[in-house]
Amino acid sequence: MVQKEIVSYFTEQYNTQPLVIKAPGRINLIGEHTDYNEGLVLPASIEKAIYFAVSPNESGEIKIETFLTQPEKITFQLNGKHNKYARFWGNYFKAIIDILVEEKYPLKGMNCVFGGDIPIGSGLSSSAALCCGFIYAITKISGKALTREHIALIAQKAEHKIGLNCGLMDQYAVLFGKKENAFFLDCKDLSHSYIPINLKGYSWVLINSNIKHNLAVDSEYNKRRTSCENIVELVQQNKKNVKSLRDVGLDDLQLISTKADKTDIKRARYIIEENSRVRQMMQALTAGNAQNVGEILRQGHWAMSSQYEITTPELDTLVKIGEELDGVMGSRMMGGGFGGCTINLVETSKLNTCITSLLEKYKERTGIDAEYYHLAIDDGVKEMN
Ligand code: GLA
Repeated sequence: MVQKEIVSYFTEQYNTQPLVIKAPGRINLIGEHTDYNEGLVLPASIEKAIYFAVSPNESGEIKIETFLTQPEKITFQLNGKHNKYARFWGNYFKAIIDILVEEKYPLKGMNCVFGGDIPIGSGLSSSAALCCGFIYAITKISGKALTREHIALIAQKAEHKIGLNCGLMDQYAVLFGKKENAFFLDCKDLSHSYIPINLKGYSWVLINSNIKHNLAVDSEYNKRRTSCENIVELVQQNKKNVKSLRDVGLDDLQLISTKADKTDIKRARYIIEENSRVRQMMQALTAGNAQNVGEILRQGHWAMSSQYEITTPELDTLVKIGEELDGVMGSRMMGGGFGGCTINLVETSKLNTCITSLLEKYKERTGIDAEYYHLAIDDGVKEMN
């Protein structure tokens, strides 16, 4: 429906059929905050997406209109040189245009209308969808396509310019995802493979805690990254070839335990153990073992809560409620943290009662209305026409 509305609005405005690009959001089964530590992640691209309707123009301007949160219009010049915008998406696009100008990319004029159904600030990577979709669109219209790897790097650089020192998980998931599969990415060498996530008799469910985050503004995300880097620096004093936490073992943490900050140690331990959970999750999915999948989700959540300290009381409450319910195999908060959705594995025969109880009990305990989303895994960024 979203796609239809955008296309019909575009056609009314510009009197021509646009090229339509779908840029999906992403979930993450396990492997949180491991990406910027050259670790392992297991995300997947989803049906919820941002749609860009675009066509070339001769005006030498990039004219953009959106309905994403509220109706807005911005015209960008091809040479960059813009002030900051009041709206978050304007600043992302400004950052992208600046990077393309820096790279001497030959930009051309474009008309663009975009909108979508990814909830913003909910851990489903609306910003990676926004950036990767826009870069794909503008480079396609300009006539010099970029590789998906290159698009991912530009999108990541745009996030860094905005203030979030993120890894590459979101951009890779959004660009390389495949229908019905999770995407296993080794962030050390960016090698990847796919693994089916359908477990017979079980359903994947998202519950939005409706606590919204803004990771680029809340510096807690970047503080976690600094903690990890502090530990790497200390380990490097004895082991010169260590480049990231991926090269650090629990025994290395033991050796620096008197020198290192206690909180940094706790966080590094979380990262090392989270990488193991990704491997365990791969095994559990391959074996079709829903019990183990659920258990790994639960362990991942409580580690994020007590060791990495990136959950919120509301997200902890959602996971606790799941633990009390017959039919919920396991759940965990997803994404950068400090708000957003949980991902839950639920017995399909008990799906309706579990969802109703989750929402009701959450409201009882927090006073907040949570939302339920059906989870469908779809392809990464693609052209729809
Ligand atoms: C955000 C970042 C990612 C990743 C996740 C946590 O989504 O953009 O790079 O670090 O948080 O796993």
